[in-house]
Amino acid sequence: MATQKSKTSWFCTSCGNESPKWMGRCPACGEWNTMVEETVATGKKEGPKSNAAVSSGRKPEPLSSIDFSAEQRISLNNAELDRLLGGGIVEGSLVLIGGEPGIGKSTLSLQIPLGCPSLKTLYVTGEESAKQVKLRANRLGGSAENCLIYSETLMENIIAEAKEIQPDLMVVDSVQTMFSQAVESSPGSVSQIKETAAQLLRLAKETGIPVILIGHITKEGSIAGPKILEHIVDVVLQFEGDNRGTYRLLRSIKNRFGSTSELAVFEMTGKGLREVSNPSEMLIPMHAEGLSGVAVSATMDGTRPFLIEVQALVSSAVYGTPQRSATGFDVRRLNMLLAVLEKRAGFKLSMKDVFLNMAGGLKVTEPACDLAVVCAVLSSNFDFCIPSDICFAGEVGLSGEIRPVSQTERRVMEAARLGFKQIYVSSFSGVDNAPEGIKVIKVGDIATLCRTLFK
Ligand code: TYD
Ligand code: MG
Repeated sequence: MATQKSKTSWFCTSCGNESPKWMGRCPACGEWNTMVEETVATGKKEGPKSNAAVSSGRKPEPLSSIDFSAEQRISLNNAELDRLLGGGIVEGSLVLIGGEPGIGKSTLSLQIPLGCPSLKTLYVTGEESAKQVKLRANRLGGSAENCLIYSETLMENIIAEAKEIQPDLMVVDSVQTMFSQAVESSPGSVSQIKETAAQLLRLAKETGIPVILIGHITKEGSIAGPKILEHIVDVVLQFEGDNRGTYRLLRSIKNRFGSTSELAVFEMTGKGLREVSNPSEMLIPMHAEGLSGVAVSATMDGTRPFLIEVQALVSSAVYGTPQRSATGFDVRRLNMLLAVLEKRAGFKLSMKDVFLNMAGGLKVTEPACDLAVVCAVLSSNFDFCIPSDICFAGEVGLSGEIRPVSQTERRVMEAARLGFKQIYVSSFSGVDNAPEGIKVIKVGDIATLCRTLFK
């Protein structure tokens, strides 16, 4: 009897690179200790790859003669999500929503069909039973007539069912629980995840059904998860923040049909995720006047300006080596800013512990936050309170100069809208028409700033 041979191969759980033998370090992505062994089918078994090559029947054609109509977008009746996707979900696109367990992926993915009662939706659940989904739907307070719940994990069945039902939108929760017969390894393994995503992508492109795919990532980054899928799917949205807090941030990491680094803010309530359309209000908490170590920064995330509170604590170091710690901000950048303060403005911070925190669990990568970080550190160091109607937007250079940042005018407008009376910006930034009620103060370098602010 001819038995089918099965062999094993080693896959990197970070990037999906395949190798015939174990290696301590993945040669493709450079990560350590990420290779896992998996069974791969061999022999002449007909795999999807081989029939994809013969069945398409398409021919290359000139670009100019390709029939073009603007991409069709479907609104999800959720302003934050629609904006994040670039104005609704594009027909035939595959959207991946990633995040740590318990952050609210299943909640959001069920809220989408419940929020669009006019669409025929297919919700495939591999993690929860249909009853559990019903329970959650009751909790979320909606029951869409047109929403079909399908509790299944075998991809071949799901694809067949989707082709028959032809829904307007499909949700698959989650990629780690799905498996295909074309691959021998167990659900959640690198090859199964790749195969599942490839099958869903083919379904989306062939039928035009938009598919939302849920994927878990762990605290350490990703174990056989969304990272591998990033180049397969069209859009990657990732949940950020702390799953113990009430705010959930959803960031667009990749978007073939819109801009990246957009951010949507949700609040987890007893009835699911609520859109927060004005995040500044959550990021600058109301507190009584007179707190030192606090400065407000006018930052941009994608196309939307918002204000965020930067908190710093400077204290004498207990040990010989001072501690530097930052939450939501790059520690190396903090060290650089402290060195600039020491060298260019003469502040002795080398024997001080410095702790930095961005309010709301947000990660800030924009250099425009530098000025607020510097001011928060100095404010804590001198125990001097910066008045709560002042905010900052500027990058700090290595020679202590304050550099202009992009879209300064929009930041000024947002600050004015939220009732700030003064904003410190670089003296090189051109703000021509500042709105009424806010004074734009231009400063050229750190030393001048210290003289004007901490006098
Ligand atoms: P869930 O969406 O299942 O997370 P994930 O699919 O990402 O693992 O659940 C997120 C958490 O939110 C869970 O601990 C319960 C809580 N929750 C609420 O606070 N309110 C709600 O309305 C729902 C449905 C869940
Ligand atoms: Mg879930």
